[in-house]
Formats: sequence, C-alpha cells, structure tokens
Amino acid sequence: MAPDLLIHNLAEVATPEGAVSLRGADQRRVRRLRGAEVICRDGRIAFVGPPEERRLSFGELPEAERLDGRGGTLIPGFVDPHTHLPWAGSREEEFAARLAGKTYQEIAAAGGGILSTVAATRQASEEELAANVLKRLDRMLAWGTTTAEAKSGYGLTCGDELKQLRAIRRASESHPVDLVPTLLAAHEVPPEHRHDRRRYLDLICEEIVPAAAEAGLARFCDVFCEASVFTTEESRRVLAAGVRHGLAPRLHADEFADSGGAELAAELGALSADHLMAVSAAGIEALARSGVTAVLLPGTSFFLMKHLYAPARRLVDSGVPIALATDCNPGSSHTESMPMVVVLAVFELGLTIEESLTAATLNAACCLGLGEEAGSVETGKRADLVLLDAPNLLHLAYHYGINPVSAVVKSGRVVRRAD
Ligand code: NIG
Ligand code: FE
Repeated sequence: MAPDLLIHNLAEVATPEGAVSLRGADQRRVRRLRGAEVICRDGRIAFVGPPEERRLSFGELPEAERLDGRGGTLIPGFVDPHTHLPWAGSREEEFAARLAGKTYQEIAAAGGGILSTVAATRQASEEELAANVLKRLDRMLAWGTTTAEAKSGYGLTCGDELKQLRAIRRASESHPVDLVPTLLAAHEVPPEHRHDRRRYLDLICEEIVPAAAEAGLARFCDVFCEASVFTTEESRRVLAAGVRHGLAPRLHADEFADSGGAELAAELGALSADHLMAVSAAGIEALARSGVTAVLLPGTSFFLMKHLYAPARRLVDSGVPIALATDCNPGSSHTESMPMVVVLAVFELGLTIEESLTAATLNAACCLGLGEEAGSVETGKRADLVLLDAPNLLHLAYHYGINPVSAVVKSGRVVRRAD
C-alpha cells in the first residue's frame, strides 16, 4: 500500500465545497484555509486543517511521504470538461489564413476546418492517435489538469469514431490524467454523406451510438447543434438515440448563432450546454430553470478572434452553474492550459477568481457526473490536487502568462514537480 502523503508549509488551501454544482452567489463561495495541511491516504483526502489538529488526530506521521508546499497555494486538480483530444494532423495554415482575415466559417465552407482534421484522423492508426493524446495529456498535467473529458468527432465513420474512442481509453490507462469519453459522431456531416445527410444521421443512431455504447467506449453523447451543422431536430434525434443506449446528453450549443441549443439542452436535462457565445435570453432562462451547467470556452472566442464571449455574468446572475474548459482542438482552441482559461474567464468573461476556480474544478467535475469524487479539497474525495507557486489564490489570474503549477498530486501520489 502506498504511504500517506503529508502536504505541509502551505500559505493556503483554496477550494469550493460540496458534491453538487454551485450557482449564483454560491459559485464564489470558496473556502480559504490559511496555513492548513492536507493528508492523503489510500488515494483519498484524509484530512484538511490546521497543523495542531493534524498532530492531535494523526500524530507526526513519521512514515508519510512529505510534499513541502514552500509557502504556495493548494487547490483542487483542474477538471477540463470539454476537449477534442484524439486528433491527427495540424491546422496552422488555416490559422495563418485566419490571421490574414478569413473567418472560421469561410475556411470550413471551403472544405477546411473540421473536415481537414477528419481526413488526417482517418489516416492515423489507433496507436498514433493514442500517442498524440498522451503528448497532450503530459501538457495538461503540467498545467494542473487531473481529469478531463475527451470527445471523438474527427472520424465520422463507425470504425473511425470507435478508433478515436479506443485511443482515448488506451491513453488514459497509461497516464495519470483520467479521461471521460464522449461520442461526438455528430460533429459534422462527412463528405461522403453531404448529399444525403439523413443517411448519416441513420448511421449515427443505428450503428455508431449502439456500437460505442455496447463496447463501453463512451459515457456521453454530444452533438454540434448549430444552424449550419446539425439542426435542433437532428440533434434531438441523435441525443435520444444516445439516451436509449445509456449515453447521457451534452451539447455544443449556440456557439456562432442562436439555434435553440440551450433550450434543447434544458428540455433533455443534458449534463451541459457548451459554448453559448450566441445564447438568447430565453436560452439563459431555460438553462437556469433546468439546472443545466453552462460550459464556457473563452479560449475559443480568443483563438477565433471573434471578440464575442459568452454572457457569463448574465448566466451566473440568472443562477446557471458555470464550468470552464479548454475546448482543446486543432482548429478553434489550440491549448491544454486551464490556467490560461481561468485568466480569460477573469479578464474577458468578467468572472471573479473565486467563480472561475469553482467553474474549473467542482462545477466541471459535477457536469461530468464526478461531483462525489473530484473537484474540491475535502475529506473523502479523491486526492487530486495542484500546488501553485503563489502566496494566495488571486495570483492564479494576477500573475498571467506563466505556468503557476509547481506540483500535481493524482490519487494521493505526487505525479509532477516543476523542479
Ligand atoms: O468546439 N464547435 C465545434 N467543434 C470544435 C471545433 C473543432 C475544430 O475546428 O476542429 C469546437 O470549437
Ligand atoms: Fe468543442
């Protein structure tokens, strides 16, 4: 059995609390424990509190491994609830075209965009995709992510979607970062079905969803619900097929135009509605009523140079729980860094640092169905922790453009140290 881990000499532990999403004013209720210590035992958090109390309850722990906090801040491991990790190829030429003034949609309409990554991903073997995912997971871990969701969606045939999902599973099995897989066969209509999109929807509902579910390769089913991609009617059909096969729904909703995606997420009781740059007032109300989590991806707005960010303040103030994610993908948000996303959330979405921390940890865990396990520094939860080289939580946004992570603990083991 692994020895206990004692984390000591901390300036503070900063964490949201509980096992359910926090919304409204509660989203900024972060507990800050000055000078606290943490004990990890059997992969779980066994103690969080002052050193005197630790001595009374646990003694000196002579056998324990020690992680010296060096006056830093301990927060929960980041949970990244929206990524497109298993891709092949690269799209820097499109990026250059966007810098020169072309839009993401113009590039997609000319056959680039998602479809160019689909072509490269179809060519790649499962081993190559898993190797690509592992490289990305190394970077995620270095920036403090301990759990992430990962979507397929660059295969768009039954074989290629399952290949992507197997690559996710394979990479996750040999890496400290836990991955939660999502089937996103409805990411785009592939070229071979451009003239009979109904057949592609049949294929998704009748073959791909059942095959992914049967093989236990996906936990969620996602759809790119957008006027120019899949309509709300088509999205409803795909997500209903997912539910029939035990895959809980989540949606890419109202990213570029309001297409009723938020309302559909609310109607279906989806685990999340993601993007929401163009969500309507009615969509916000529907999300608030239904308790669906809004996963916001400010890295996508930034990277697409849209100068259009999701209305985060209105969402929070309406009582919608907010989570934050990278959207890590080669076209619209090429980053693995949750600290970068937190900086954008503070500077561009107008969230407070406390709201952002909750969004990047507890609320993100909850919208992946992991609220009991992850997302906060509390006794009984999995010991997934990040040590920041920072005297307090504010530095997470105040000192931007650097990697603030000095150590990462996953399931009670130190899996990364910056020095
Ligand atoms: O979340 N919106 C759709 N999918 C991705 C983009 C994928 C790509 O461009 O390859 C997104 O932004
Ligand atoms: Fe996405």
